[in-house]
Order: sequence, then C-alpha cells, then structure tokens
Amino acid sequence: MRTHYCGELRKEHIGETVTFYGWVDRRRDHGGVIFLDLRDRSGIVQIVSDPQRTPDSYEYANALRNEYVVEITGRVTQRPEESLNTRIPTGEVEIYADKIELLNAVRKQLPFQVSVADTETVREDLRLKYRYLDLRRERMAQNLQLRHQIVKAMRRYLEDLEGFIEVETPILTRSTPEGARDYVLPSRVNPGEWYALPQSPQLFKQLLMVSGLDRYYQIARCFRDEDLRADRQPEFTQLDMEMSFMSQEEIIELNENLVCHIYKTVKGIELQRPFPRLTYAEGMERYGSDKPDTRYGLELVDVSDIVKDSSFKVFRDTVTNGGIVKILPIPNGNDVISNVRIKPGGDLFKEASEAGAKGLAFIRVRDDGEIDTIGAIKDNLSEEQKQEILRRTDAKAGHLLLFGAGDAATVNKTLDRLRQAIAREFGLIDPEKINLVWITDFPMFEWNADEKRLEALHHPFTAPHPDDLSDLKTARAQAYDLVLNGVEVGGGSLRIYQREIQQQVFEAIGLSPEEAQNKFGFLLEAFEYGTPPHGGIAYGLDRLVMLLAGEESIRDVIAFPKTQQARCLLTDAPSSVDAKQLKELHVASTYKPKS
Ligand code: AMO
Repeated sequence: MRTHYCGELRKEHIGETVTFYGWVDRRRDHGGVIFLDLRDRSGIVQIVSDPQRTPDSYEYANALRNEYVVEITGRVTQRPEESLNTRIPTGEVEIYADKIELLNAVRKQLPFQVSVADTETVREDLRLKYRYLDLRRERMAQNLQLRHQIVKAMRRYLEDLEGFIEVETPILTRSTPEGARDYVLPSRVNPGEWYALPQSPQLFKQLLMVSGLDRYYQIARCFRDEDLRADRQPEFTQLDMEMSFMSQEEIIELNENLVCHIYKTVKGIELQRPFPRLTYAEGMERYGSDKPDTRYGLELVDVSDIVKDSSFKVFRDTVTNGGIVKILPIPNGNDVISNVRIKPGGDLFKEASEAGAKGLAFIRVRDDGEIDTIGAIKDNLSEEQKQEILRRTDAKAGHLLLFGAGDAATVNKTLDRLRQAIAREFGLIDPEKINLVWITDFPMFEWNADEKRLEALHHPFTAPHPDDLSDLKTARAQAYDLVLNGVEVGGGSLRIYQREIQQQVFEAIGLSPEEAQNKFGFLLEAFEYGTPPHGGIAYGLDRLVMLLAGEESIRDVIAFPKTQQARCLLTDAPSSVDAKQLKELHVASTYKPKS
C-alpha cells in the first residue's frame, strides 16, 4: 500500500518506513552503492541501496534501468551534509530501500531520455509521438497539473460563489458561425445529411437562457478547421459562460473577480481591479491592434494630417484616397537598426511586407539632432513638416521613425508586427508583468474583401450599441475581449434577444430571410417565447493556461495536441477508413492520391 508520493518526502518523515511507487529517473552506481532517483507525478526522491545496509534490495537495485516501474519500501533518513540537494524539495532526505519490487521493465530502446535531469531538448514531433513519455517529464507534468488547478479554481468560483450551473451541450450539432470552417460528420441514418462539430456552444447557451437557467457555464470543447498557429488548435477548450439580466458592466465585474480568483488561488498573486480598458478604436490608434501588448510603450502616432499636403506623392495620395500615414517611433533605434534592415531584403522590411506593406519610409534623428532621411521622403517633406512630425512623436536624438502608409488595416497590421518585433529585440518585454486589458466598443461588422460583404466581427448574435441602432452597418457592438500580455484570452458580448434586430443583423451580413430562417429559424422562434436579456463570454482555456505556465505554445498545455498540420502523431489521426464504412455513410471520396 502506498504511504506517500515520491515528491512528498521531507525531513519530518525521517525514521518512518514508507512505501511508494514510481519510475526510475536515473540510476547511478557509486562503487557498490546504488543511487536511484525515483519519479512520480509529484516529483523525485533519492533511493539508496548497498550490500551492507540493504542486502535484500541490492541485487534488485543493481538490475534496474531508466524508466523501470518499481515499488519501494524503505526507511527515510537524513542525507549526509555533503549530498544535500537544495534544488529539489526532497533534497534533505534519502530512502534506504529495504525492499524493491520490479513491477515492469522497459523492453525497447527509449526514443528519448525522459529524465527530468536531462536538459537535452527533444524534437517536438518525437515528443508528440511518444507523448505518454513526454508527459512524464517534470515540465509537462506540471503544466497538466496547473491546468487542473486553473479549472478547479474556475469551477469553485463560478459554482460556489456565483451560482453558475454546468450544462453539457451537444457535440453532434449544426454549424455555429464563429468565422472558421466547420468539421463535418456524415449521418448514417440520415443519408446525405451532416452534423457539424460545434465551433462554440454559442447558440445552445443562449437557448439555455431562454429556458431560464439564468447562469450557465461549461468547460467546453470547440472545433474549428482553421490555419493553425502556436495559440490555435483545431480542437481547443473554452471556459464558456452565459448569464441573464446582467449589464455589460456587471458581466465585466464578475469576470474580473473570476480572473483575480484564479491568479490568487493558483499563483498567489493579487491582481489590481478594475482592469484597464481600451476601446477598439483606441487600441487600433495607439497600438495598431485589438489585442495590444501593453507591457511596453512604442505607441503609434498618426501623422496623416501633417503629410497630406506634402509633395510626397505616396503619402498625399494615400491620405486623399482615405488611407492613413502612421509612425512607429523607436527610441535609440538609430544605432541598432541599419538601413539594410529596413530596405528590401532586410528582416524588418520582410516583416512589414508580410503584413502587406509595400515599403518602409523612415526618418532618423541623428545624435546631433539633425534629421536624416533618404529617398523620396528626403526632398518631399518640408522642414516644417519634419519638425511637426518630430514634435508629435516626441522624437529625440537617436530616434528612428518608421512610417506605414496605406489603408488603415494594412498600416496597423504592419506597424503592430514591427512594434512587437522591436520590443522583443530591444528586450522591452518584462516577463513578470501581467497586463490585462479589456477591449470594448468593437464595430459590429468588418468588410470581407474576398467575399465582398460585411461580416460580424464577433458573431452575428452580438447586440449592437443602443445608441447606434439607426445605422447598423457602422454600429458599435456591445462586445468585449479580454487581452493578457497581447494574447486574446477571452471574448464575449451582450446578445440580441429581439427577433427584429436579429433579422436586421442577418440581413446586414448578407443572409436572405430564407437562409436565416433555414439556418437559425429555431433561434428566431425561441426569441418569440419570452427571451431574457442576456450576455456572456468565453475564455480560451488553453491560452490562459499557456500564459500562466509561461509557455509559448498551447501545445505544451494540452495533453494530446495536434501538429500544425492538424495531425495526432501518437494515434496517427486522421486516417483513411474502410470502403465499407464510407458506403454505410453514403459518402464517396473524390480524393486521388498522387502516384
Ligand atoms: P471566440 O471565437 O472569441 O468567442 O472564442 C473565445 C476564445 O477562445 C479562444 N480561441 C481559441 N483557442 C485555441 N485555438 C483556437 N483555434 C481558438 N479560437 C478561439 C480565444 C478566444 O478569445 N461564442 C463566443 C464567445 C461568446 O461570445 O461568449 C466565442 O467562441 O482565447
């Protein structure tokens, strides 16, 4: 019978006989004395065996190898002064093994060293293929435990302090439009028809409000077939919430308390409330982003009005055609960033052009305060305009000013990318900082240039601002995102709960009344039967855990994640299926493998 986990043993256990299980992390033979580091999910403890003091176990200890699974019974003893290990919590004790029982051996060459003492970085594809070994490693084991602690804190707060009820919503469902492609599944019993996996429980949680549940939450799996990045997975988890009869302010307050509770219980950190807020327009203006990292400055400055009458055709035409000219001012950027890096072929130019920029004009303020420019900008900005630009950007000796000119979306995207790249390069990001900011007053819609139609910025169930109902197309939404250190960790809104407004919004995004009826008739109908005002939010749980764990990728906080190609390397999914299965499903593949 287990008396302890490995990582629990301390000085106060000295003298006790203990029994525990674990994996051999490392085995060292010091001239007839065998030391074993034994590991379980709680940590590591040192085991000793030698022919004099532990004659019954010595032979077994000698035969053990890395990752063998054993049961050990032994005496907890004080480590001698010279072998105290302050790096691990069990470092003051060691266990003299009276009995070692081998429960299972390793029969194949390990694909990589599991030992936590091994600092070798293992290729991610290998880690994912042998994820069960990877998860034995300290970092991964701790990430999973942290994830569990975070979910536990969420549940405790929502259930015990705020009266939320967890409800499961269907996985086999209809498409919910959150802006990504759906994963679809054929129905065997309904030939020719398909389920979609939920992109979020959005419509069901709204229907739960119609049913009077009042406060719903769910740790919900969501599925989106979209391009994958470090903070995106095809299946991911949300903390999803919805509540009735609450204003935006009340929802935000409850959520700030939730986030404070999580930090306090999991990290022991007291966050300051209320969290800062930025409107979408301010976020775009100052940072070029609706998820700005506010841990550092480098704020953007709009100079469209200064350059609109200049003889520099690019700037003049841009502003005349409704575009903007903005500057990213970089203090002390002059020495560090050479012209080569800003001109075609350079790394910063590449960064900008990947965001859609065609070029990167710049101004340097030399150490003597003289202004340095090259190319067309040199002769086409008047001295007065240059001075005005320096005043507005607060540029001092050593400043480098990078220009973005074009349509607002491209300029903001470009300067946002450059701002982040420069902050990383100049070491401006304090990893200890926890900068939370609410982004509010999003526009209801954005223009989808490919499809030539408006599309909902959040989703089409978001309520327009009551002051903006006269022109829905330009209306602000009653929506809010929570951004943590430049990562969007959550997003929500007040919802439409009146049929007429919902129909107008469907119309605005180009859904005909028939299409709206066909896709969302059940929702429109529900609105007829007494729907309470309601709103909610969903957090990206994986992203939140990633940030609290200090990881760079959500793959490191998900037990069995997918690769960038949406594959599971462990089970080798997705895979082909039998022709018989397809036939039963009334599905034929048009895919022709390349020969
Ligand atoms: P949204 O689409 O903004 O809102 O999603 C909420 C949060 O989920 C996270 N997230 C993701 N995390 C990992 N991989 C992905 N592919 C991924 N996509 C989104 C983000 C995001 O902030 N139904 C609405 C919520 C609501 O209005 O209540 C929704 O799903 O952290």
